[in-house]
Amino acid sequence: MITYSDYGEVSQFLMGKEINGKVLYSMAVYYVDGLLIDTGPKTVTEEARNIFQDIQVKKVVNTHHHEDHIGNNLYFQEKGIPIFAHELAVPLINQPSMWISRLLEYQKLVWGTPPASISSPIGDSIEGNKYRFKVIHTPGHSLDHICLLEEKNGWLFAGDMFLGEKVKLLRSDENVGLSMASLTKLLNYEFNTIFCCSGRVFDNAKQCVSDKLSWWKILYQQTVQMAEQGYDATVIRDKLLGEENALAQLTEGDMSKLNLIQSFLSSIPTE
Ligand SMILES: [Fe+2]
Repeated sequence: MITYSDYGEVSQFLMGKEINGKVLYSMAVYYVDGLLIDTGPKTVTEEARNIFQDIQVKKVVNTHHHEDHIGNNLYFQEKGIPIFAHELAVPLINQPSMWISRLLEYQKLVWGTPPASISSPIGDSIEGNKYRFKVIHTPGHSLDHICLLEEKNGWLFAGDMFLGEKVKLLRSDENVGLSMASLTKLLNYEFNTIFCCSGRVFDNAKQCVSDKLSWWKILYQQTVQMAEQGYDATVIRDKLLGEENALAQLTEGDMSKLNLIQSFLSSIPTE
């Protein structure tokens, strides 16, 4: 299933695989000014090919190498459209065989296994038809993650970097300490609107980033205090965030509250 939403000069395509008539999990790609930001999961390839044949894509940017962001790269490569990503993402996009064996069942079911495609390092900025997009390296969700900033319109295309003000779930391979540093870095720039690959779009965007950072800083301090009192990660999670929701079970623990607490604990400096 792919649904379209119009945000003025920005077009959003929300993509997800229907299972028993329901879309359990979706992600969004954005088309703006000749750029396609991410290409979506392989599980919607047929529908994506139909939709994108009518859209004038000049360049593709992958915000990071995850399977739901690169699954339709090949379609654009076959049309001679160049694909760009952070230099750390390039080998992972060009050779997914390096990491797809680690995909969990839910990822294979919902997103599919991405084929290899050819990407190139993106550099510090990328030109659209009429705007220039600054490339900001924002590791945390993954080490190769980038955001694109268009300063004239105040647009921040944030990939999986932001997602919401009160994020309680973390993937098992995310690093919350790096994510907090990346959020702090984003606050050095000016922007008004955040376009997330979750499909959510946030106005009053800098305040949202600041709120997310504050929420995680408070949680971090509370986690440190409880760890010093001898509580383990599970007890800290239950006390600060409550029990896991259904997503933790559906993803075999890959997305969980416990991952967030454990990532806080592993970012406490050791003497
Ligand atoms: Fe991701």
